[in-house]
Amino acid sequence: MIDARLYAYIEGVRADHLELRAMVREIEKLLAAAQAARWATVEVQALLAAVEDLDRHLREHFAEEEAGGYMEEALAIAPRFGPQAQRLVNEHPVMLQQMAQILDMARRCVTQSQVGPELSRLLREFFTTLRAHDAAENRIIQEAFNTDLGLND
Ligand SMILES: [Fe+2]
Ligand SMILES: [Fe+2]
Repeated sequence: MIDARLYAYIEGVRADHLELRAMVREIEKLLAAAQAARWATVEVQALLAAVEDLDRHLREHFAEEEAGGYMEEALAIAPRFGPQAQRLVNEHPVMLQQMAQILDMARRCVTQSQVGPELSRLLREFFTTLRAHDAAENRIIQEAFNTDLGLND
């Protein structure tokens, strides 16, 4: 039985993950455009702005997930996911560090087009990590609450 508070929690995670997913897709488009433009300043600046936006969103998202105990609602019902949740929450600071490195590279890329390929590599790697991370969180919630978030393609 899912009460109103739990429902709001599940919907909150779902909405956040959907939003992050849309931001990642947008950055992938801007990245392709910057690459096609051979890392021209205007394109890289647009890419940088989107990456800065993602960084802000991620900080808020992680803080929200960790507030009041990470995955606490799901773990109360399904404590078997405890060790996995611990591994996932440990990924948050690692991902923020990767983001800092990406931001640094994106800022350099505005004036140094030669770092473009490295920026592209870092971003792609990061998106793979982020997608796997959110998918694992979705799976825990779906299994704990026996619900379908409709997020795992
Ligand atoms: Fe997370
Ligand atoms: Fe998440």
